[in-house]
Amino acid sequence: MSIELINRVPSSLRPNEHPYMNGAWTPTHEEYDGTELEVIGQVPTDIDGVYVRNTENPVQDPIGRYHPFDGDGMLHVMSFRDGKAQYRNRFVRTKGFQAEQEAGRALWAGLAENPALSERPGWGAHGSLKDSSSTDVVVHAGKILSTFYQCGEGYRLDPYTLEQHGTEGWTPIDGISAHCKVDEATGELLFFNYSKHAPYMHYGVVGPDNRLKHYIPVPLPGPRLPHDMAFTENYAILNDFPLFWDPELLKRNMHVVRFRRDLRSRFAVVPRNGQPEDIRWFEADPTFVLHFLNAYEEGDEVILDGYFEEDPEPKSSNSAPPGFERMMAYLDQEMIRPKLHRWRFNLKTGQTREERLDDRILEFGVINNQYGGRKYRYAYSAINHPGWFLFDGLVKHDLETGESWSVRFGEGRYGSEPGFAPRVGATSEDDGYLVTFVTDMIADRSECVVYDAKTPSEEPVCRIILPARISSGTHATWGQGEAIRAAQSR
Ligand SMILES: [Fe+2]
Repeated sequence: MSIELINRVPSSLRPNEHPYMNGAWTPTHEEYDGTELEVIGQVPTDIDGVYVRNTENPVQDPIGRYHPFDGDGMLHVMSFRDGKAQYRNRFVRTKGFQAEQEAGRALWAGLAENPALSERPGWGAHGSLKDSSSTDVVVHAGKILSTFYQCGEGYRLDPYTLEQHGTEGWTPIDGISAHCKVDEATGELLFFNYSKHAPYMHYGVVGPDNRLKHYIPVPLPGPRLPHDMAFTENYAILNDFPLFWDPELLKRNMHVVRFRRDLRSRFAVVPRNGQPEDIRWFEADPTFVLHFLNAYEEGDEVILDGYFEEDPEPKSSNSAPPGFERMMAYLDQEMIRPKLHRWRFNLKTGQTREERLDDRILEFGVINNQYGGRKYRYAYSAINHPGWFLFDGLVKHDLETGESWSVRFGEGRYGSEPGFAPRVGATSEDDGYLVTFVTDMIADRSECVVYDAKTPSEEPVCRIILPARISSGTHATWGQGEAIRAAQSR
């Protein structure tokens, strides 16, 4: 084994009872390189690329109330090639992280606090937040792009070494949201942002050369809280869901989210390089969608798959510790009840058709990214751990036959959003591996677990033991080695 502690980041965080700063969400402040790790089983020789997970790790004692999405972004990477696996983890050196390191304390209040308590001007549609770059991560143009769900600058890092390349240069003034989409067929990156000022949303396209090539307003009726987008070969799909900050309270700088069941959901179908006048809006049943799975075109229809929330504004949780009832309800999929759903937008008639694809509570789905925006067959969703923002297992769907298979991580074991790693020389869409980081609260350690995606079984192909137990977090991604090397040699 070869494990090197690279750095221990100074922290002012004090012990506390916060449910999302303890247990599987206990933050870590150490940065490691693990070049030779203990492996249970054998690392496959036909897996080539990087599995990257973003996590929230608060470093400074919070100003007032802490929300788990306030934590500083830390990336964990497991890179695979020739039957070998290497691990690294680093904080994203955001401007906010660095300023707080210099101050030795928190400078920004978080999402659950009064923005007026922030000591410095902040980022995010909410305003006055620290851009912690802790939500999402993609690999584009040979580099990682980590992003913040409330909109931030976007940070670039090397996918293998985690060398920091700072903020992304083309980021517009309103920043970029989490869930930029990489079209692996064209090398383009599609993104959006949102804000509290008109036109409230923009959409943009960045080329495979990492230059901004398109940027347009997507006018909305008011401030909205979009979290994800989708794309097909020819269109981007944006949204206007009836879940947004109460406009009257917002005038007093109070950010209280309300679900307006009396309004319709609206989806914007925008030609990929189109203008605002080319946007076509489609109406659908009221809901909120945190994450989409994929979209594609078929005949006259644009087909969109995602997780339809049955209760976007849940009642407070009965089981939460006092003071955390509302926060824990919004972090619990059992309360929000997202279900795999299909929308069909008919470009000829302007009509929408909807159907439920599965009645189980599922979210955080991934696909083989080579099929992003194209007709696809297989999806891999995460199973929620009731009461918590944690994942117990995975469900594979064959969307053609309707069959599905489940894999559970085991007692006290919580995984991350998986990445689909296509097998080198793959011959079909599901010919590959599912990779996840599992935090095992009983063994008090974390592992990178690799499953066969074609025939999912609870017996993994291999388990790679990480140098330390890592915190749970939000999103992860897979970057294919060949594509990274090709982009880096350009
Ligand atoms: Fe997300």
